[in-house]
Amino acid sequence: MADKLVGKVIIDSPGRINIIGEHTDYNLGYVLPTAIDKRIRFTLERNNTDTHCEIRSKGYEKALVVDLKHIAPSHVQWENYILGVLYEIYSRSKELKGFHCAIESNLPVGAGVSSSAALECGLAFGLNELFALGLSKHEIVELSRDAEHNYVGTKCGIMDQFASVMSKKDHVILLDCRNMEYRYVPFEIAPYKLVLLNSNVSHSLASSEYNTRRKECEEGVAILQKKYPSVASLRDANPKIIEACKTSMNPKVFNRCNYVVQENTRVLDAVEALKKGDLEKLGALMYQTHEGLRALYEVSCRELDFLVDFSKNIPEVLGSRVMGGGFGGCTINLVHEDSADLFIQSISEAYKKEFNINLSYFEGHPSAGTTLVEFKA
Ligand code: GLA
Repeated sequence: MADKLVGKVIIDSPGRINIIGEHTDYNLGYVLPTAIDKRIRFTLERNNTDTHCEIRSKGYEKALVVDLKHIAPSHVQWENYILGVLYEIYSRSKELKGFHCAIESNLPVGAGVSSSAALECGLAFGLNELFALGLSKHEIVELSRDAEHNYVGTKCGIMDQFASVMSKKDHVILLDCRNMEYRYVPFEIAPYKLVLLNSNVSHSLASSEYNTRRKECEEGVAILQKKYPSVASLRDANPKIIEACKTSMNPKVFNRCNYVVQENTRVLDAVEALKKGDLEKLGALMYQTHEGLRALYEVSCRELDFLVDFSKNIPEVLGSRVMGGGFGGCTINLVHEDSADLFIQSISEAYKKEFNINLSYFEGHPSAGTTLVEFKA
């Protein structure tokens, strides 16, 4: 094993966008994400100790010192992403030893582009290389998700970690979260492009409400199962089944289930639309998703609704919706490239007038997943 060890690795770990398929992953449904060309860069070096680890963040001047033998959750949330990954790896392999890590990022935090998954997966990927741990990409994805469950406390699905690690340039990933089968779908949308508008709000409800949504879906499944024992998750349900159980469910649970079932169909329809180059259809599906997330799943907020409503009045915008977990972050917009600048300018002015908040924006270019940039023996 020792001769395989390298002394230093540099890793780029990207954020992700999701074309469609929101809150479907933990319901074992379909998602359509990809990594973007914004990333966290990790420079990792062995320090020849058994258990002493130091992690420094360049931009934020944050530092964390960890002894692998005494890993425990922290009251500082960003530290839990790191501690969680170290815990998950160390409990799988004692080949993990002491290291130094410097982190730099150009990925916006709290924007719904999953800087958290980028942090988890990049660290896990880098340590796997540095200490030749022999973890597969799928194990890296899963242990990073486990870190988020066990140390951060968000009972997230698998989409963000999967997209961060597995993405391929110029493609989106159609992932079936029931069996982890996936397919790369070429993403050809010229003369349109994806514009991400960051509302720059991040409502504190996000994590607790996220876990509540997950519970409500589980509650729904338990009710469906009484009548339809073969329904193991909302993936196995359809509108007819849900309608048949309507009177046994409280209206909120009914709405949550309805949304998820509809959203799974929309993902498959979106893939067909992409294949045919039918971008009007793709855009219409994105608007429908927003409506579902707003009215049925209730994870939108005033700022995001404002942005989507504004877009509806602009013919050069084919689709717009809240992206990611919700309660803030970004909208993802399918915009004609000739009109993108004007659209950004007018929506920024209107948003500022309405909320006195500056909108920020970036383009979403489907990019490669976590990458080994450099290594030195
Ligand atoms: C967050 C979670 C994902 C997924 C999305 C909503 O980003 O981390 O697992 O559930 O919300 O689609």
